[in-house]
Amino acid sequence: MEKFIVEGPTKLVGNVSIAGAKNVALKALVASLLTREPVTLRNIPAIGDVALMIDVLTSLGKNVRREDHVVTITEDKPLSSTVPLDLGARLRASSMVVGPLLARTKQVKIPNPGGCRIGARPIDRHIEGLKNMGASVVYHPEDGYFWITTEQLRGGDVTFPKNTHTGTETILLAACLSTGKTTIHNAALEVEVDDLINMIRLMGGSITRSENRTIEIEGVETLHGCDFTIMPDRNEEVTFAIAAVVSGGSITVSHSQRSLIEAFLTPFRRVGCGIEEIDETTTRYFWKGPIHAMDIETAPHPGFMTDWQAPWALLMVTAEGTSVIHETVFESRFHYATELMKMGTHIEFFHPVVTQPETYYNFNWEDHDPDAAQAIRITGPNVLHNAVLTMNDLRAGATLLLATIIARGESTIFGIDQIDRGYEHIESRLCALGAKIRREDAD
Ligand code: EPU
Repeated sequence: MEKFIVEGPTKLVGNVSIAGAKNVALKALVASLLTREPVTLRNIPAIGDVALMIDVLTSLGKNVRREDHVVTITEDKPLSSTVPLDLGARLRASSMVVGPLLARTKQVKIPNPGGCRIGARPIDRHIEGLKNMGASVVYHPEDGYFWITTEQLRGGDVTFPKNTHTGTETILLAACLSTGKTTIHNAALEVEVDDLINMIRLMGGSITRSENRTIEIEGVETLHGCDFTIMPDRNEEVTFAIAAVVSGGSITVSHSQRSLIEAFLTPFRRVGCGIEEIDETTTRYFWKGPIHAMDIETAPHPGFMTDWQAPWALLMVTAEGTSVIHETVFESRFHYATELMKMGTHIEFFHPVVTQPETYYNFNWEDHDPDAAQAIRITGPNVLHNAVLTMNDLRAGATLLLATIIARGESTIFGIDQIDRGYEHIESRLCALGAKIRREDAD
């Protein structure tokens, strides 16, 4: 176990290059299971979740070679159909191997993903979709595994009751080698889904997306290998944009994708942050004066993404006035707020009044914890002081790290494997911008 020791405050100034998108890289690795032929993936970020997914592929029988940001996957023996329990528990996206494995081996055993061992809930929409395609799914509570089998996956109509990003991708991955046509209704619009579609098309898949949240997949008998480059990570770009402004600095981002983060850039501009469009793929984000408070509510794409709300909260901590953040996609994603409160911020949790919460929220309302607040109110501006903190999820981790960079004094952060899961060499990239961060043994 390691920890960060951070000395603040520092102004972040300089250039940074955005790494490949975690939420495409993981699925592209899974998509390599769709073929026996070699697959080369480029711009794969050097992050913990990718290392775990490579372990999943290896455990299933693939040979994986990694050099810098290029991963080559080959196959020379029959695939196994069981995802090891420890890997499944540490990586929710590991459940996505179900589609390719079902199509190719007709059976698969996946642990209930993400360490949440309370039944089918976290992937209930994925499971229902697979059943519509001819899969039989049995959950074995005694070992925590879903046993999924099929005589033959066949095309069908899959209608998601609510948005699901990885659920849409799971059905896509299952459908491209099934017989006949699959239509996904209420399919997720997240742009990472489209990058996965681009890769499967390169492999010979037949997929059409139409404007009414529908994706049609014509199953094919076999898919072939490909050489595919992962898109840049838009969540990283948002993180560095906020880093520039909250630290009173200026960060120029290369591999920028402004058109894909418009839902962030609009409020970012409105509250008084600086954006200079240097060229098509280079953007400078900078502090240009006092920031104003503004409310936001998260939503599936094309709304304000749930992944951006934790860093946005830090921006609001530095803003004049009172702002509200209402999380509607995940249940209670505010652990970081309790940590920020240790640093002198004025944040309160509250339960917003919502008519028809069962349709309003993207998570399953019937399972929600009545004590878990879905919103926070921030009154700023606050000057942050040092603290001892613990990260409990990836985006929260990035937020807490930035908070310690702008806080007075020396802070300690535990649980940093959370940030290593999704941000490549985060402390060396922030140190190159002026931050003072040391990684030390936590024992
Ligand atoms: N949900 C269910 N049952 C399901 C599927 C989803 O209850 O069968 C609930 C979830 O618990 C959540 C909501 O529905 O409350 C939305 O879930 P969704 O399936 O859309 O999210 P996800 O696929 O689990 C992906 C990303 C997240 C990102 C969201 C939103 C990956 C590996 N994860 O999660 O990324 O926030 O979509 O775009 O692609 C991250 O990168 O840190 C991260 C959390």
